[in-house]
Amino acid sequence: MFFLKIKYFFHFYKSKLLKKKSKKIYKDKKLKFENNLSNKKFSNRWFLNNFELFNFFLPKNKNKNFNYLEVGCFEGLSSFYILSEYKNVNAFLLDIWSTPKNSELSQINFELIESNFDKNLFEFNFVKMKGDSVSSMKKLYNQKKCFDFIYIDGSHNGEDILSDAIEAFKILKDDGLIFFDDFLQHDENRNIQSYQGIEKFLSLYSDYLKIEYFQNNLVVRKKTN
Ligand SMILES: C[S@@+](CC[C@H](N)C(=O)[O-])C[C@H]1O[C@@H](n2cnc3c(N)ncnc32)[C@H](O)[C@@H]1O
Repeated sequence: MFFLKIKYFFHFYKSKLLKKKSKKIYKDKKLKFENNLSNKKFSNRWFLNNFELFNFFLPKNKNKNFNYLEVGCFEGLSSFYILSEYKNVNAFLLDIWSTPKNSELSQINFELIESNFDKNLFEFNFVKMKGDSVSSMKKLYNQKKCFDFIYIDGSHNGEDILSDAIEAFKILKDDGLIFFDDFLQHDENRNIQSYQGIEKFLSLYSDYLKIEYFQNNLVVRKKTN
């Protein structure tokens, strides 16, 4: 990980400033959002760690009609934010909703998590896809769907992140963004770390993407042809 940070030092340093800036801009908005969650069923609030940065990269025009894909929704906290904030979004929300082995999530009852997802988002229109991320994205590719913004927050194993990134890139529009969650964390239970998968992705696709943000999250933009 140390060498990766050195290799991308310029992006790493620049992103630190951007993080600080986004925290300042979206501080009040985050508080307001948190206050709206009391009657919802969210047992985890991981998304709040990304809230400010997420907003920094999302469209500024709240009426914008754009295609959003989320890989790994859990109880739908980030999905809930997108759907309540953007009335004209076409959202595709996918998750496997089944208990994984050898993961920090292996103690969780995913039947309950999926049912909470359904309850939390009952009032919105969106496409729910239940299944493995790679096969679901292959389906979307075959249906010729493409997206302006893809949030990858599914499996954090390096090999899964790499395959998610490759599939997501195929269905990303030119100038579209992929936002990766938490990729700099080291976990002894993983054979291949998230950042190793991301490193491979960045070197394979370096001619086709621009790094917009590089800290514990990575944001890349697909270059226009
Ligand atoms: C950290 S949680 C997502 C949190 C969510 N974005 C939020 O805002 O609360 C990760 C999710 O990824 C899902 N996941 C893990 N591996 C997956 C796979 N191969 N395909 C689809 N979803 C997967 C898990 O079921 C879990 O719900």
